[in-house]
Amino acid sequence: MNELRLFSAKPYEVRTFDRAAAELGMSLTYLEPRLDRSTVELAAGAPAVSVFVNDDVSAPVIEALAAGGTRCVALRCAGFNNVDLEAAAAHGITVVRVPAYSPNAVAEHTLALILGLNRHIHRAYNRVRDGNFALDGLVGFDLAGKTAGVVGTGRIGLIVARLLWHLRCRVLAVDPFQDDHLLALGVEYVDLPTLLAESDLITLNCPLTPETHHLVDADAIGAMKPGVMIVNTGRGALIDTSAVIDGLKSGQIGSLALDVYEEEAALFFEDRSDEIIDDDQFARLLTFPNVLITAHQAFLTHEALAAIASTTVDNVITVLGGAVSPNQVAR
Ligand code: NAI
Repeated sequence: MNELRLFSAKPYEVRTFDRAAAELGMSLTYLEPRLDRSTVELAAGAPAVSVFVNDDVSAPVIEALAAGGTRCVALRCAGFNNVDLEAAAAHGITVVRVPAYSPNAVAEHTLALILGLNRHIHRAYNRVRDGNFALDGLVGFDLAGKTAGVVGTGRIGLIVARLLWHLRCRVLAVDPFQDDHLLALGVEYVDLPTLLAESDLITLNCPLTPETHHLVDADAIGAMKPGVMIVNTGRGALIDTSAVIDGLKSGQIGSLALDVYEEEAALFFEDRSDEIIDDDQFARLLTFPNVLITAHQAFLTHEALAAIASTTVDNVITVLGGAVSPNQVAR
């Protein structure tokens, strides 16, 4: 029987993975630790391992996986910026991913952050529970008539742009590939400087690549409209955290919502409520009333989890059977 060991396995994944594995005849082992140099020996003897967004699949880890007999690394996510693809190819390890488990899930969470942040729902919730019914500090703005900039109109950004258009925003987009459906709606493809200069809110829905690393840096923030809202559900390092902290302090950035954070690997996906957070930049972000952070949960819907499980199991069976998976990540 095909065997798959899942690193960074979480209780909310188990039921859907068990169901998918039973249907397709695969044996699963759930491992709580994240994959890295110190845990890679847990993979020894497994033909396939599965990892998530913050597992370390760098060259030394790949070398150790190959030495232990692993032939397939199956990402339970779309992004693959944490994998050294050159090293994987050099060691004969096939990397597969789940390219589109539920773009709706991520797009809807992006919209939830935009609406929640704008109308201060995070503050209002706490105030009302505390018997404080004052409205000072809770003033938002109408989205209708505002200019929304969407960076990246792939599977997720396409839906975000469409949702914002339905809220009657003027929608600007930056993407090397223009989407005909969005063009027909009236979405305007522009260059990045135009999007930065004209948008009241900017949402980042592009992948993290060398080109997009720190796309939002001090220069970009300086080129934005004063009081701009920035929302990032893409990858943490699309934003230079020190620069956004400066922008928030000066008021140049009016509000910020994050589902991803540059240094999230040391924080997210664990209960750290009893610990002292020693990431001073993250701690500083938490002090701003106009910052709303969720811990990489944009993907977290029942539908997305089911799609992740069935696609991952199917990907692994295909690769271990010697066939080429359509979800193989090319070098
Ligand atoms: P996709 O591959 O369908 O679309 C990405 C789009 O970004 C493409 O149209 C591409 O042309 C565009 N792009 C690439 N470089 C660009 C640049 N320099 N400027 C503007 N656009 C650029 O990917 P999808 O499924 O829409 O996902 C986007 C990203 O969202 C993923 O790479 C991943 O990092 C993130 N993501 C976050 C999740 C979460 O839970 N927070 C869950 C799933 C994905």
